Amino acid sequence: MNNQSNANDKLWGGRFEKSTDEMINAFQASIDFDKRMYNEDIEGSIAHAKMLANQNIISADDCQKIVNGLKKILQRIEAGDFNFDIALEDIHMNIEKALTDDIGEAGGRLHTARSRNDQVALDTHLYVRRQTEEVQKLILELQQTIIKSAEKYRNVIMPGYTHLQRAQPILLAHHLMAYFSMLQRDYSRFQGVYERADIMPLGAGALAGTTFPIDRQQVADTLNFANIYSNSLDAVSDRDYLLEFMSAASILMVHLSRLSEELILWCSREFSFIELDDAHCTGSSMMPQKKNPDVPELVRGKTGRVIGHLMALLTTVKALPLAYNKDLQEDKEGLFDVIDTVKFSLAVYAQIVAGLKVKEDNMLRAVEEDFSNATDLADYLVKKGMPFREAHAVSGKIVHDCIAKDIYLKDMSLEDFKAYSDLFAEDIKDAIKPETCVANRNSFGGTSYHQVEMQIVAAREWLNRQSK
Ligand code: ARG
Repeated sequence: MNNQSNANDKLWGGRFEKSTDEMINAFQASIDFDKRMYNEDIEGSIAHAKMLANQNIISADDCQKIVNGLKKILQRIEAGDFNFDIALEDIHMNIEKALTDDIGEAGGRLHTARSRNDQVALDTHLYVRRQTEEVQKLILELQQTIIKSAEKYRNVIMPGYTHLQRAQPILLAHHLMAYFSMLQRDYSRFQGVYERADIMPLGAGALAGTTFPIDRQQVADTLNFANIYSNSLDAVSDRDYLLEFMSAASILMVHLSRLSEELILWCSREFSFIELDDAHCTGSSMMPQKKNPDVPELVRGKTGRVIGHLMALLTTVKALPLAYNKDLQEDKEGLFDVIDTVKFSLAVYAQIVAGLKVKEDNMLRAVEEDFSNATDLADYLVKKGMPFREAHAVSGKIVHDCIAKDIYLKDMSLEDFKAYSDLFAEDIKDAIKPETCVANRNSFGGTSYHQVEMQIVAAREWLNRQSK
């Protein structure tokens, strides 16, 4: 078979008599996906080289050659002028080999006191830290559009639901701001992810540290890490920060998926509460009348994919002995897909929310032509002195009789009401109007105009604090 190149082509060729089989090369290589960490790999190597020189482990001259060489490689990669070789397995060896080809012996000194095990950990920490900030930025942008919609529709009344049955009248703005609150927690979850990614693993070596007098604090300072792993075995085998990223991403996607489900329902003919922008929908190749909410459907669908990646990595890690095992290379494809999916979904959702058209009349009709003001009827009697249990029963009976007569509470006269209790007076008419039902729910966090306004003000203040 002529599918084996010279054993000494490999950076670790010395120990081997045969070179790697080509199919095995293809199977074990990660270059196809880990090449997206080229920036982090070069940044980490430059920090490592400078530390080695400062500690007199390599000469200042070699360090200069390494740094210049790495910068040239960065330019080449960014110009699309770099040939990634699958036989060199991963981004770390591709870059090291290109460096050595270019600058010779000095390139061979870069890997002193370092292993790919702590190198890949460093790259992934740097990458996740950066991506976490980008996700957070996109969360804030979606929150901005949510606030804008809440303000635009600040007086629109709709039914609030439990069990998907009309329950009590609420403001659409209140409903929208619930998603703002969820995203606020998502944002702070990613803050936690950042903190756990903000630990510097380099210097762990392959697993046990190194015999060279390295200065890990210096590398941490150069790369702006808040902390350093204090156990080398943990440093090379920790993937908690990836699990946390994926679980924060899963929860975020679940929130977007719940919103998706609501938008899909609301734009159905049965609800007719909203219309999505034409630019955000697709038609049918067969049915001329169709306008389909593909984007919310896809976000709902992609949620399963993100959760799946989290499950996959949890399963990969669950029985792994310390320290590095090649299984850990399986962390990246899922992670990258989660990153892309979450960022794309957030960006698309900001457009969807901004493009929503609300059918205010239909929302109000859904409140008026139903009994979601029945709690307010009971509360009215309680405020006139009746115990709540009794008021509940009286109101239930009224609703029952209305349904039998095919009328709503607003169709009843004062005399009709008085037939059920003497406590009813002229003010009952106003008490069961949708606007009154909403305005009266003025407890902290409730749906009243005032409370929702306060939510929006607080939300704006919070947003301003985050974007500082
Ligand atoms: N490509 C590897 C990964 O992504 C880098 C570390 C490899 N270390 C090793 N001893 N094979 O995990």
